[in-house]
Amino acid sequence: MSQEKTFDMIVAVCQGWGIGKHGTLPWRIRKDMQFFQSKTSTPPSPMKKNIVIMGRKTYDSIPPKFRPLPDRTNIILSRNTQLKESLPEGVIVCDSLPSALDCAYAIQDRGDVYVAGGGQVYRDGLTLSGEKRGYHCRNIFVTHIDKQYDCDAFFPDLSKPPHSSSFRLSNELERLPVEEDNGVQFRFATYSAETSGVSLHKKHQHLRESERQFNRQEESER
Ligand SMILES: NC(=O)c1ccc[n+]([C@@H]2O[C@H](COP(=O)([O-])OP(=O)(O)OC[C@H]3O[C@@H](n4cnc5c(N)ncnc54)[C@H](OP(=O)(O)O)[C@@H]3O)[C@@H](O)[C@H]2O)c1
Repeated sequence: MSQEKTFDMIVAVCQGWGIGKHGTLPWRIRKDMQFFQSKTSTPPSPMKKNIVIMGRKTYDSIPPKFRPLPDRTNIILSRNTQLKESLPEGVIVCDSLPSALDCAYAIQDRGDVYVAGGGQVYRDGLTLSGEKRGYHCRNIFVTHIDKQYDCDAFFPDLSKPPHSSSFRLSNELERLPVEEDNGVQFRFATYSAETSGVSLHKKHQHLRESERQFNRQEESER
């Protein structure tokens, strides 16, 4: 049986699920950048290296001195077949998200795989995960910024159908600790794929049914 290719997504959204404007971030929140840096560069074990997959426009939005993102394998999505030649050595270019995930899973020392934007790639990530083609988004790490910014790029609203039935907020947003940086308030939230919850629910249903059967059997034997 082929292995399911799992990945996580990581994003910061303002009120209204905006993520960017004119190819850049509309805010500057140092603590959130540190969170992104630490989360995506910390592998599950020291011998491994995490992978970040991002759209070409998001890669372009990173200041040249900070790219490619260090301590992570960078995979860029682009339909431009010439792009590879202009990128530093080690940066991988793929022409679709499934091929980027296939490529990530072919890497021996692969750690966790993060889809890191932008809008087009996040949408692909959600669609691909919903299509059950052997690709599965486990967690979406969302920094909820408590402010509205003017945006032209967006993350799909996870609190509304169809995504609300696929991903569940692990803790009520209002109960999450409020962080503050540069006068802006925000919260670190995690939305987890419902599949684990569903299977747990099914497991509990199955256990309850076995218990009932056992009780019925006992009663009839008495
Ligand atoms: N708030 C956050 O956490 C966050 C995170 C990341 C990005 N952002 C923001 O998001 C904005 C950028 O998002 P965006 O939607 O405009 O662009 P994007 O998704 O970053 O990049 C789009 C480009 O990626 C390539 N691409 C996308 N999907 C592809 C596919 N399925 N197959 C092959 N190539 C594909 C294409 O490159 P080619 O044109 O080269 O073919 C496309 O033009 C910026 O404002 C950025 O600052 C915000």
